[in-house]
Amino acid sequence: MDFYEVLEKRRTIRDFSDKEVPDEVLEKILSAAFKAPTNDHLRQFEFIVVRGKENISPIISPVAGNTKNIQQAGLEAAANEMDKDEHAMFVSALPKQQRMLLQSNCLVLPFFRQKDYPLCKPADQSSLNYFASAWAAVENMLLAATAEGLACAFRIPIGNEPGHVKQLVHAPEEYEFTCFLAIGYPAENAHICKQKEIRTEDRIHKNVW
Ligand SMILES: Cc1cc2nc3c(=O)[nH]c(=O)nc-3n(C[C@H](O)[C@H](O)[C@H](O)COP(=O)(O)O)c2cc1C
Repeated sequence: MDFYEVLEKRRTIRDFSDKEVPDEVLEKILSAAFKAPTNDHLRQFEFIVVRGKENISPIISPVAGNTKNIQQAGLEAAANEMDKDEHAMFVSALPKQQRMLLQSNCLVLPFFRQKDYPLCKPADQSSLNYFASAWAAVENMLLAATAEGLACAFRIPIGNEPGHVKQLVHAPEEYEFTCFLAIGYPAENAHICKQKEIRTEDRIHKNVW
């Protein structure tokens, strides 16, 4: 697939079929992480791959409860203030947070080494370099998965989720995890949210904003 076709095709898909992702394809996708730029040149990424609903369930156990709280608190109230495409995305995505992670049956937990400052207590923008590098690696994986005909959905951990996951998988103290990354073959009728249309030329400013 041509690079620009991959860019166009990469979309967040939260409905998966039950076709298994072969190990060798998954390894190719994870290899893409190590081709991303990293702030300290070291690419200190580690992956936990979890397959089987009986193994995924305990890892994502806080997700349903945490998501319900956001849904109840925010979505209806926000309907009038939010952009309508944004609102439609949240309406579609929130009820699927737990299901998508289970349904893919291939949950990847990408970990990165966080040094110098705690992730949630940065001293300045550069303290977030490890986090930024980890996300560059995630984007590479999303694109590689797309090139392989696969789809991804991910959830940013909230509340007690990072601590819960780190403890269950025995992650070393100095490693943080980026997101819950579900990789799988899209379901036949998979829903894809309408992407916001943006004219690049409107966002390019010459010399000053
Ligand atoms: C930083 C970041 C956080 C996100 N968090 C979540 C999330 O917690 N759950 C989810 O289902 N999607 C999440 N998404 C996916 C977005 O909803 C999605 O990328 C966006 O709606 C645009 O759609 P597209 O990926 O199909 O282009 C996140 C995306 C980014 C970049």
